[in-house]
Amino acid sequence: MKDLLSVNQLSVSDIYQIYEYAKDYKDRYKRGETKFSDLRGCSVLLPFFESSTRTRTSFELAGKILSADTINISASQSSVKKGENLYDTIKTLEAMNSDFIVIRHYMSGAPHIVAKEVKSRVINAGDGTNEHPSQALLDGFTILEKKGKIEGLKISIVGDILHSRVARSEIKLLKKLGAEVTLCGPITMIPRHVEALGADYITTDIEDALSDRDVVIFLRIQLERQSKVFFTTLNEYSVKFGLNQERLELLRDDAIIMHPGPVNRGIEIQSELVYGNRSLILEQVENGLFVRMAIYKFLLNK
Ligand code: CP
Repeated sequence: MKDLLSVNQLSVSDIYQIYEYAKDYKDRYKRGETKFSDLRGCSVLLPFFESSTRTRTSFELAGKILSADTINISASQSSVKKGENLYDTIKTLEAMNSDFIVIRHYMSGAPHIVAKEVKSRVINAGDGTNEHPSQALLDGFTILEKKGKIEGLKISIVGDILHSRVARSEIKLLKKLGAEVTLCGPITMIPRHVEALGADYITTDIEDALSDRDVVIFLRIQLERQSKVFFTTLNEYSVKFGLNQERLELLRDDAIIMHPGPVNRGIEIQSELVYGNRSLILEQVENGLFVRMAIYKFLLNK
């Protein structure tokens, strides 16, 4: 296994191996060990063809903490703007002897095409509406840390399932680890043939999706991917599917809420609840760093 392109590539023991590395890095980092030499002499190139705050920063910082040389390549400031195609861009980056290419692309499947063309290890940092494996891994790690297990947990994923690469990776990972997964959203945002995604239960009733769940993951409404109208107004979406104080009361006392970010405040989650005491959103971001360090180590050892 050279690359990390999809959760499909990971066995349960691979996932727990990544979590073991991530926990070890986190424990040592918290004890003051803030530099490691696992990637000394390695170069990490990060071509991002879509915007990102969390994923790009944490993959870059993870590489630096592991002593790699990291270079950001923003499509809008690269020769892509002059018309260079993906193949030539990637071959150019490989010619600089990159050890890792961490790529985000608006086209589903782009990292798979790149991985076939280069010797560098390729990490999918989100491709179109297809997958976002490192987000699923860090969300699973965060749930495990909080709940002590994933097997047997009841987890709902609420929102724009249709456009969500996070949902696709998340369902695969949570099902592999033995959770029961519910999908909830407007009927227009539930993809056709949704059963193929592997969830246990589909509902358009938010109260149903909140009741008796251990974890509820809210997804961003991806306005940038929408060419059609899926609901009349954002306010209507918020009224029907947003988390507010009243709906928070429907959750079990020990239930937690998550969101991969960025949040559309007041739409998916009422603004005051975003960093409230049920929310693990900032823990997700923090764990993203250690899980991405672990992904580098995992691929290097493979
Ligand atoms: N969750 C996530 O992918 O966030 P960014 O787009 O900020 O990387």
